[in-house]
Amino acid sequence: MTFKDELGRRAAEVEEYLVTCLRGRGTPARLLESMEYSLLAGGKRLRPVLVLAWNGLLGGETDKAMPFAASLECIHTYSLIHDDLPAMDDDDLRRGRPSNHKQFDEATAILAGDGLLTEAFGLMSAASIFKGLPADRVLRAIHVVAGAAGAGGMVGGQAVDMEFTGRTGVPLEELKTMHAMKTGALITASCECGAILSGADEADIDNARRFGRNIGVAFQIVDDILDVVGDTATLGKPVGSDEAMGKSTYPALMGLEKSKSLAKDYVDEALTHLSGYFGSEQEFLWQLARYIVDRVY
Ligand code: IPE
Ligand code: IPE
Ligand code: MG
Ligand code: MG
Ligand code: MG
Repeated sequence: MTFKDELGRRAAEVEEYLVTCLRGRGTPARLLESMEYSLLAGGKRLRPVLVLAWNGLLGGETDKAMPFAASLECIHTYSLIHDDLPAMDDDDLRRGRPSNHKQFDEATAILAGDGLLTEAFGLMSAASIFKGLPADRVLRAIHVVAGAAGAGGMVGGQAVDMEFTGRTGVPLEELKTMHAMKTGALITASCECGAILSGADEADIDNARRFGRNIGVAFQIVDDILDVVGDTATLGKPVGSDEAMGKSTYPALMGLEKSKSLAKDYVDEALTHLSGYFGSEQEFLWQLARYIVDRVY
């Protein structure tokens, strides 16, 4: 099986759980439709796959960690819905379909995001209540995810992104901090909470965190590169959006070649935190890290 097939197989496993997880909550029909419209529109499912791979690498059970994996995808999807709103990036296409606010309306899109974010916390707690994972692990993992999703993580990074829009010459360090927050934080939390849920020791959790931090920044650098050199049909979202909006990005600051080589450096650093492990999950994570710089989607 190639790496792409393996990633597809794991994403399909997550998909199977995602189709069930918003149902039966008494959600008004149009709101549920809007939440599922974005959640079930495809997407690489990178964050849940990372939760499960780190969990598996360190001896955890996939079935028990699955609600947690799904919760990361809910938070990520909410961030995309809000990111596309006219008040933010004002993008009309997402995951190959009209953005949520285009398909529905702005109020519904805002509420769909709110619903997905809140549902995520129900799912995370379900890992203990219904799947029997030890409450202390689940509590710690929820704490990590809340920190990463919130104002000191993804939301804060999005605020900095808006602040930097239309500005030129943002210092490299500040750009890196923004990337680490808006994208790196959730990717890091995915790796870290997978490790925490498995019952791993602090050294393993630390490796998961450092791996996540490095692939997280690399992932956003490549996202910025693909906004310049990518293809709308392949990406399922508009290209050229960053330049049109005057976004501060790595390609804008240092050009494509240097950006690419920097992304590769971050991935190389990430790999050093995997070198002490063996087996199929280690191999998968290794390839996943490499794929982040080679991806065209
Ligand atoms: C896009 O994330 C937004 C960023 C944080 C860079 P992904 O590239 O993971 O988007 P999907 O989930 O595959 O649609
Ligand atoms: C998004 O960064 C980061 C989020 C937290 C959603 P971008 O604005 O570059 O993501 P895309 O390119 O729209 O997916
Ligand atoms: Mg954005
Ligand atoms: Mg955007
Ligand atoms: Mg982008």
